[in-house]
Amino acid sequence: MNEIIRKDYTIRPWQMSDIESLARNANNINIWNNVRDYFPHPYDEEDAKSFIKMASGKNPIQDFSIEVNGKAVGGIGYIPGFDVERINAEIGYWLGEEYWNKGIMGNAIKDMVDYIFENTDIIRLFASVFDFNLASMQVLQKNGFRKLTIFKNAAIKNNKVIDLYYYELLKSK
Ligand SMILES: CC(C)(COP(=O)(O)OP(=O)(O)OC[C@H]1O[C@@H](n2cnc3c(N)ncnc32)[C@H](O)[C@@H]1OP(=O)(O)O)[C@@H](O)C(=O)NCCC(=O)NCCS
Repeated sequence: MNEIIRKDYTIRPWQMSDIESLARNANNINIWNNVRDYFPHPYDEEDAKSFIKMASGKNPIQDFSIEVNGKAVGGIGYIPGFDVERINAEIGYWLGEEYWNKGIMGNAIKDMVDYIFENTDIIRLFASVFDFNLASMQVLQKNGFRKLTIFKNAAIKNNKVIDLYYYELLKSK
């Protein structure tokens, strides 16, 4: 992907010039509380540099930045399955808090889903959402993801055992 340009945002590959903006937007406990523990917190410029280096080294690129007003303020990407599960992928996303609730991720997920289904062999996408993350459930549902099940006591975050809401979207034939 070169870039997907929309009125409110652009989706494009990460670049080293995003380090400062990535660190500034990702360094937020309200983001970290909703994502896996491997997402750094605090999130400094060294973390941003390592991430961009890793993301830029993949072929095809799987992690993209969401740019708003010329600055990379969020991320969206997919992790393909391995071996016989290589036709499916987990989708993941986050956005700098000052940009929440403006409809950006709801639309960016649609762009990403279309991109994946049109440009890769992946035919099934899934996402696993913490039980309290209603905004994430909402953006998935708005994009046609279906809640398949709730895995009870399936994760631990901030020392609290939580349920995972498991969503999937199949590529239509
Ligand atoms: C989840 C996240 C990406 C959503 O991005 P966003 O750009 O704010 O999403 P949108 O504005 O497109 O849509 C958010 C929707 O959630 C709804 N919402 C927000 N907070 C809510 C809440 N506490 N309860 C119920 N609905 C809520 C909004 O009303 C909106 O729905 P609507 O379009 O029907 O009004 C963003 O909140 C985020 O980065 N969170 C932290 C990281 C994260 O959770 N990543 C996903 C892990 S699975």
